[in-house]
Amino acid sequence: MKANYLLIFVLLTNFTVLAQNQSIIPKPVSLEMRNGNFEINSNTAIHIQNKELVGVSNYLKNSIQSISGIQLSNNKHLPQKINLILESNQKIGAEGYTLDIENQNITIKANSKNGVFYGVQSLLQLLPSIRTNAKLLVPQMKIVDYPRFSWRGMHLDVCRHFFGPEVIKNYINLLATYKMNTFHWHLVDDQGWRIEIKKYPKLTEIGGWRVDKTSINWRERPQATVNESPTYGGFYTQEQLKEIVQYAAERNITIVPEIEMPGHAAAAIAAYPELSCNHQFQLPLTGGNYTNISSNFCAGNDSNYTFIKNVLTEVLDIFPSKYIHIGGDEVDKSSWKKCPKCQAKIKTEHLKNEEALQSYFVQTIEKFLISKNRKLIGWDEILEGGLAPEATVMSWRGESGGIAAAKMKHQVVMTPGSPCYFDHYQAGPEGEPFAIGGFNSLKKVYDYEPIPSELSEEESKYVLGSQGNVWTEFITTTEHLEYMILPRLLALSEVTWSPKGSKDWHDFNTRLQSHFKIFGQKGWRYCPGNFIVAIQPVFNNGKLLVNLLSEAKNSEIYYTLDGSEPNLQSNKYLQPIEINQTSTLKAITAVNNNIMSLQAAKQQFSKHKAFGATVSYTTPVSKYYQAEGAFTLTNGVRGTKTHGRNWHGFSSENMIATFQLANADTLHTLNLSCLQSYRDWIFCPASVKFEVSLDGVNYKELSSMKNPIDIESKAKETVEYKLEFKPEWVKSIRITAQNNLCPKGHSGEGNMGWIFIDELIAE
Ligand code: ACM
Ligand code: ZN
Repeated sequence: MKANYLLIFVLLTNFTVLAQNQSIIPKPVSLEMRNGNFEINSNTAIHIQNKELVGVSNYLKNSIQSISGIQLSNNKHLPQKINLILESNQKIGAEGYTLDIENQNITIKANSKNGVFYGVQSLLQLLPSIRTNAKLLVPQMKIVDYPRFSWRGMHLDVCRHFFGPEVIKNYINLLATYKMNTFHWHLVDDQGWRIEIKKYPKLTEIGGWRVDKTSINWRERPQATVNESPTYGGFYTQEQLKEIVQYAAERNITIVPEIEMPGHAAAAIAAYPELSCNHQFQLPLTGGNYTNISSNFCAGNDSNYTFIKNVLTEVLDIFPSKYIHIGGDEVDKSSWKKCPKCQAKIKTEHLKNEEALQSYFVQTIEKFLISKNRKLIGWDEILEGGLAPEATVMSWRGESGGIAAAKMKHQVVMTPGSPCYFDHYQAGPEGEPFAIGGFNSLKKVYDYEPIPSELSEEESKYVLGSQGNVWTEFITTTEHLEYMILPRLLALSEVTWSPKGSKDWHDFNTRLQSHFKIFGQKGWRYCPGNFIVAIQPVFNNGKLLVNLLSEAKNSEIYYTLDGSEPNLQSNKYLQPIEINQTSTLKAITAVNNNIMSLQAAKQQFSKHKAFGATVSYTTPVSKYYQAEGAFTLTNGVRGTKTHGRNWHGFSSENMIATFQLANADTLHTLNLSCLQSYRDWIFCPASVKFEVSLDGVNYKELSSMKNPIDIESKAKETVEYKLEFKPEWVKSIRITAQNNLCPKGHSGEGNMGWIFIDELIAE
């Protein structure tokens, strides 16, 4: 009996220890459990072997005091010690550490104080996070840990919404807790200039403030007028900035400031109109309405380069970061095309066009930064017109910019919109705060691999790491900011720190639960989970199988196939579902018999006579919109308005597709399903021609249909070009869809638009 009790006791003790140790995020490289605990109490001394570690030691002392009231002693003669030691160890690199927790000693060793700081972070994650009277027991273990990438970044836009110094410090603390080491601070944009520049005080006096139109949707806000008061905004003084830089450095965080140029400069131009091509007076932008606004620096005016160098001189004095971000994204070059000075610059510098002018601009700034012993980093548009010789590229429009730059032996930071934009929805839009759009769920972030498969091992070395971006057009409170980064920050921290091979979604999701508890205890807002069922159809050998997945821990999925609302009595998902008739699938997530989805996920399937037909295109599908591949238009899977999936996209003048049925058949209806999404440059085809053939050589035209809706229709909708005809014996079908130019008044006026098609339904 006694032995059994002992066994149960040992098992239980180990179990508790296991539960605690498993919760460290990011997951350490190696962690070996031992039996027993180390108790931190007033008889515990802290011992540092090097003066350099005083800051880290104080950080640990303060953290322990704030959760327990315990003051760690400096008395070296106490038997219980926490030792912080600098010691050379090749294996763990500049930021790695070892953490040894034994009966009488906790020892953190590293090559640098930054490594020791991370050992302290892991130790703190083993302790309660808020004030407690419970004993501070730390399970005994040995950790050896070091990061996978050197750039583990988070960005924050303080231009669209200004967040004060205290919020920034809290943000930095969160980054440090999860071992992120880079804070990309977006300080300058069209809607606000946030950094005091002593030589040009109007940048913040005027450029730092705008008329408050918060109650109107960002994209629709009217321009301010001169008799309205600019009350919305703010800026940081140089003194505040220097203090924050120091605060971040104490937490192993480098602040990379972003000073946007040559575009996104409308706030600076509001302060100093002579910076633009037309020198016209303008007020700081209230939102995303750019009508009659200049947002580019004139690239032909030499005094502008002097202005920027003067600004940067002050920036460099505040920020010791090796990398200085100069923006470079989304430059609308139309003002340069009309500007005599810009055109003269193109001539005198023998530049090919406006893209090359931007490249000249960036290279001029790069020379300046290099002369000051710094490195230029910019968004991937800086590749256009020729990359500056030593520039680092931040890939945001997908991964292609990063891939191209790495192949050119330039350093890159991967931050593709999907999944690294944390201003996108993560579990909605239903039930979530209004966001800019998109959908980057926690699992999508966790599954991200920063090294694209296109890169060789040698090229991969140019990938410094990855970063999460937080743009704040729609984020105007600290609670909302917390919600957008928690818990996605934790997923990215593991992506950038932990070894690729150790990634395990279920294990991460388990460890995450104790961090949720901490967020709750601290009163932070966070997203509790994505409860939308992911519907993943797989078309194979003429069969359509559907997998259903939920990200939520310990969840079950219930579904219907007849379009009715599912509930806990509906079919429980156990294995992939075969779809062999036209169906509407709806599915929900339940946890502990509670329905968690606010809305059922929905997918339509059409079983029809062209189901599984092979498709060939005369004009290729855009490489960006390949959807499910070759069978996208005949797999029965219908596209939805909210997801880019399931649509084939074309930007050629015509889309010509030929469909081969497996066997000849009689048909009486052909229905081509297209998308209209004005804002995304996607328009219903101007016309669609339907042709059929029995021998695949001679085609008979059935009819041509004109666009049934107005090209200017702003509503996002699926539109069907449905042709009914006298029954025909058919083996091949040819569809020719005519593309549109973006109409007058559209942001892409005169450019080729896009055709998006999800299915050809034949009956
Ligand atoms: C960006 O999101 N415009 C870099
Ligand atoms: Zn100009």
